[in-house]
Amino acid sequence: MNVAAKSGQILDPQLFRRVMGRFATGVTVVTFLREGKPAGMTVNSFLSVSMDPPLVLVSVRRASSFVEHVRVGSRCGINILSEQQRKLGPHFANQPEPDANARFHDHAGTPLLDGSLAEIVARVVDIHPAGDHLLYIAEIEHLAHGPEAQPLIFFSGRYKQIHAHDPMVQWNAVDGW
Ligand SMILES: Cc1cc2nc3c(=O)[nH]c(=O)nc-3n(C[C@H](O)[C@H](O)[C@H](O)COP(=O)(O)O)c2cc1C
Repeated sequence: MNVAAKSGQILDPQLFRRVMGRFATGVTVVTFLREGKPAGMTVNSFLSVSMDPPLVLVSVRRASSFVEHVRVGSRCGINILSEQQRKLGPHFANQPEPDANARFHDHAGTPLLDGSLAEIVARVVDIHPAGDHLLYIAEIEHLAHGPEAQPLIFFSGRYKQIHAHDPMVQWNAVDGW
């Protein structure tokens, strides 16, 4: 199926996916309560939006079960995965892995995954429609990072690891913003 772009050109969805896949990202699992029980959804459309107030954004497909359970005022967890948590990526994207070993802990009623590279709890303050997705904007209420570890990367539809002798040597030389 082709999708008509606004310009009148036909946009090939597979090309769209392939091109967007060239943008390497980290991998998060967004955790929430589903009928009182911890649940999660793998998400890579995560970004920080504002420092003051501290806001983050995730873009979620309208058809996902997350949308039924998380509304304005709800809290969710954002768990940034390390490469040791590779199995959790597919596990929380509808491909259950029997040995994924997902363990949750709780922060003031919000479920979070054990052993993540970093964890955030945020309260949803706005939900914007955007085509077949919804943009969830949430204000950070809790932040913590785990032990130093390598991040899990998603690139061209595959999970990857950073292979560099010491990437920090390069990164430290560059000014941040
Ligand atoms: C690496 C990766 C990243 C993903 N990122 C997103 C995302 O940003 N937004 C989204 O709606 N779905 C994303 N998905 C797909 C959802 O994880 C998947 O559709 C999930 O099964 C939806 O949950 P549900 O089955 O409970 O509705 C991603 C999947 C993978 C493997």
